[in-house]
Amino acid sequence: MTTTREILVTSALPYANGSIHLGHMLEYIQTDIWVRFQRHTGNSCHYVCADDAHGTAIMLRAEQEGITSEQLIAKVQAEHEQDFSNFNVSFDNFYSTHSPENREFSEYIYRACEAKGHIASRTITQAFDPEKQLFLADRFIKGTCPKCKTEDQYGDNCESCGATYSPSDLINPKSAISGATPIQKDSTHLFFKLPDFEELLKQWTRSGSLQSEIANKLAEWLDSGLQEWDISRDAPYFGFEIPGQKNKFFYVWLDAPIGYMASFKNLCDRTEKLDFDHYWNKNSNTELYHFIGKDIINFHGLFWPAMLHAADFRTPTAVYAHGFLTVNGQKMSKSRGTFIKAGTYLRHLNPEYLRYYFAAKLNNKVDDIDLNLEDFVQRVNSDLVGKVVNIASRSAGFISKKFNGQLSSAVSEPELLNAFSNEQYAIADYYENREFGKAIKSVMALADQANQYIADKAPWVLAKQEGSEQQVQDICSTGLNMFRMLMIYLKPILPIMTQDAARFLNDNLAWSGLNTPLVGHSIEKFKPLMTRIEGIQIEAMLEDSKVEVAKELALKEKQG
Ligand code: MSP
Ligand code: ZN
Repeated sequence: MTTTREILVTSALPYANGSIHLGHMLEYIQTDIWVRFQRHTGNSCHYVCADDAHGTAIMLRAEQEGITSEQLIAKVQAEHEQDFSNFNVSFDNFYSTHSPENREFSEYIYRACEAKGHIASRTITQAFDPEKQLFLADRFIKGTCPKCKTEDQYGDNCESCGATYSPSDLINPKSAISGATPIQKDSTHLFFKLPDFEELLKQWTRSGSLQSEIANKLAEWLDSGLQEWDISRDAPYFGFEIPGQKNKFFYVWLDAPIGYMASFKNLCDRTEKLDFDHYWNKNSNTELYHFIGKDIINFHGLFWPAMLHAADFRTPTAVYAHGFLTVNGQKMSKSRGTFIKAGTYLRHLNPEYLRYYFAAKLNNKVDDIDLNLEDFVQRVNSDLVGKVVNIASRSAGFISKKFNGQLSSAVSEPELLNAFSNEQYAIADYYENREFGKAIKSVMALADQANQYIADKAPWVLAKQEGSEQQVQDICSTGLNMFRMLMIYLKPILPIMTQDAARFLNDNLAWSGLNTPLVGHSIEKFKPLMTRIEGIQIEAMLEDSKVEVAKELALKEKQG
């Protein structure tokens, strides 16, 4: 007997100052498929997330909208939750980093680091907006590029000539917030002494459970020497005040990953039998996975395990990074309409189309993933509608009309059905290893086999011949049993379609059902399980995206 694994999974916490777009969805869909697979095969798997609610950007955005930061994050969280639920992302908890649990853990971890001597304090000089009375991060300073003289360049690099520089080298620098000329001002900051954890991080990096791309990147950073990490920000800042300090706040990236724990704690407090310490204690034998994008590897691969270790918590079992989403081969673009928000997509298309397409493209590498809209239409139509649903629609009619919805009382093609169920080991491995594209390839090869079988047997011809009733029932029963297995395999990817198929087949489509075909079983009347995507829906979505962008621009101009 295999023992049930106890798994805790997270996706990165989306910022609470903007909408969820299809780039984000790549991550939440990837994670959700993995989580659903774990539950499908009998493991205990909890999936938590939260909005990342702190930081200057959120504070400024709220100000711009004339509301409080708290009001903004509540509004955005409601929108995010709606989008995730519409895409059927199966979070056990979606919380916020602006929560009492998160404040408590952040203070606790900080205090633990401080007590062990891992916090340093020193004065640094930074750009300061004298009008807004605000220290300016690099990206809030703009000016003329010192090299090519292009105006309006942000921060420390020029979009026009690619030069990199210090923001203080910009010609005629201005605060991007108020337009005032920044001055240089001193302030005391707190630092997390990351170099103290070099050995731990070297070990953790070589633990073998990281993707090689990540392990290499981390090794590069480790080899070039770790820097102390600035974890404090001066008021005004929307976040948690640092205990024992005045007017100093935790930098948003300090309390963001702690938000994973806070969300899980909040879930535990509402769930009998779910014990926080069991998952987070230093010697826990539960598994902890963070799914993230490639842009935030340093936070999850260096600072986070170090902080956990310092505070005597367990470190993650693995961090799984994915690449970035491009649309039609390019970065998502507001002018081309390819900066597509989750909500915009959902107004035009079925969420399962995107879940399927992303799954078909996903592997366990950090490579970027392209959503090619033509390929998307073609792929979904030919695989899901043309191949998979077709198997059911060709078999179901005869069973309903001629056999009163009853499948044959014995399996007529044991070898064929065995071949289908024997794929379960390979497919399970693919899911486990986040090789979803390979899982889909296997399933589609089976779908081809099923269609070939039905085409060869041509039940529609036999149905016209006297005395072939048993044969027709057997062929269609085999067809539906093959269809059922494909649905069991695709369940983590297509939760809604499989739910409808479950109703149609009168079966719960459990993974264990792969070993027991349906015999002498009655099914419901067949209803189409998925319709084709029409090109016009894509056109409409792109147009709608452009309108959304225009609306946002107009709002920004109005607010000044
Ligand atoms: N708030 C931080 C994460 C804190 S985790 C403790 C953040 N937020 S984000 O909203 O910018 O991104 C959330 C996740 O979506 C990240 O993992 C990020 O890599 C991912 N993606 C954002 N844009 C993306 C694409 N265009 N493509 C794929 N993933 C993308 O980072
Ligand atoms: Zn330049």
